[in-house]
Amino acid sequence: MKTLNVDVKNVLQTVTGEQIQALNPEAALAIEKLEKGTGEGSDFLGWVNLPEELTDDLLTDIEATATRLRDLCDIVVAVGIGGSYLGAKAVIEALSDSFAALRTDEKRKTRVVFAGQNIGEDYLNELQDLLKDKKFGIIVISKSGTTTEPAIAFRLLKEQLESQIGKAEASKRIVAITDARRGALRQLATEEGYKTFVIADNVGGRFSVLTPVGLLPIAVAGYDIRALVEGARVMEHATEEANDLNPSVVYAATRNALYRAGKKIEILVNYNPKLHFFGEWWKQLYGESEGKDGKGIFPASVDFSTDLHSMGQWIQDGERTIFETVISVENAEKTTVIPTDAANLDGLNYLAGKRVDEVNKMAELGTRIAHVDGGVPNIRITIPALNARSLGELIYFFEKACGISGYMLGVNPFNQPGVEAYKRNMFALLEKPGYEAESAAIREKIG
Ligand code: PA5
Repeated sequence: MKTLNVDVKNVLQTVTGEQIQALNPEAALAIEKLEKGTGEGSDFLGWVNLPEELTDDLLTDIEATATRLRDLCDIVVAVGIGGSYLGAKAVIEALSDSFAALRTDEKRKTRVVFAGQNIGEDYLNELQDLLKDKKFGIIVISKSGTTTEPAIAFRLLKEQLESQIGKAEASKRIVAITDARRGALRQLATEEGYKTFVIADNVGGRFSVLTPVGLLPIAVAGYDIRALVEGARVMEHATEEANDLNPSVVYAATRNALYRAGKKIEILVNYNPKLHFFGEWWKQLYGESEGKDGKGIFPASVDFSTDLHSMGQWIQDGERTIFETVISVENAEKTTVIPTDAANLDGLNYLAGKRVDEVNKMAELGTRIAHVDGGVPNIRITIPALNARSLGELIYFFEKACGISGYMLGVNPFNQPGVEAYKRNMFALLEKPGYEAESAAIREKIG
């Protein structure tokens, strides 16, 4: 069976093969730290062997819970933020019909919507309005159980659900995914008798998509979590050894060589709009893992060819500090052929009989050549198709490369101290009990 492939030959105008290979010993050391737990942040390495360690019992429990929620609910709201949101969102969007929300037939598979990933009042108000005459359920996901954004959304939705169907019925439609023992959400779930799943202590949020955090919403949306896990298992094995055949090593070494050569921004590119949120997931993974201690490649993302008509100018001609990593899907799932038109006023008859995907592939190739000629190195990651198995491969491949790359960069890839600064200020401004000194200080600062 075909698997993910990484092609770095289009970076060789900027860095040589020897320069990339010279980083292999650093990559090997990073893999050793990941496999043996000898690096910084080693308390958070539960994701490394997670795909193989996922038990059939857990997958069956997730599938059964998903079936129960689907039977009871027309809409399930997944409440979470950051790593407790983006993985599920990315996979569901990638696998869903592009117009699922407007479908009334079985293609309207997706019945998962998201909340708690923002504090937009209109967003929450409109969501509550949508749910007021619907059978709905809630998957509340928070490892800490104390994150403000999902806590606000959950408080609102829980109250709404209880007032619509009563406390006892509501508790059958709420599933909590949180720490095994600690935190407000664990306590509430125990008191209210919610079905729960555990986020292991040693798996950080942005590495948690292959735990119930991602797998339950994905299963509720109707997608094959076993195929996703199978793909991840393939990559777990393909990325074990520190050699040139390890795709995560090739990617991590190449991006670090580019970074050291002055390419400070990496743009993740897709040619399939369904991958938009995969870019968002990837940005969190790399941004939170590497952006610290004054270091780190800035992760950006674009959807082509849409963004060729917006960001295309900058990428072709702007400051030469960028490189691209393209996710290329070999085969479109559906077939659409461009028709002949007798009048040919648009001059497109030269494309008649070609598949739309053929045109898309030429857009990709033409763009790659133009960008490489314009000084933008290009890493190309190919997956055979946009399906659950390939996404599982892609997820684990990027996670492993992120761990390797973070250690090569010389940071602890598994903490996120920078995320606390805004929270402290927000709590001080909102006069949260316990933040009296910070409140006084910030009021003085803003005058
Ligand atoms: O990667 C991370 O650890 C973070 O993005 C968290 O996932 C995010 O802050 C949400 O945290 P929690 O699940 O504790 O609510």
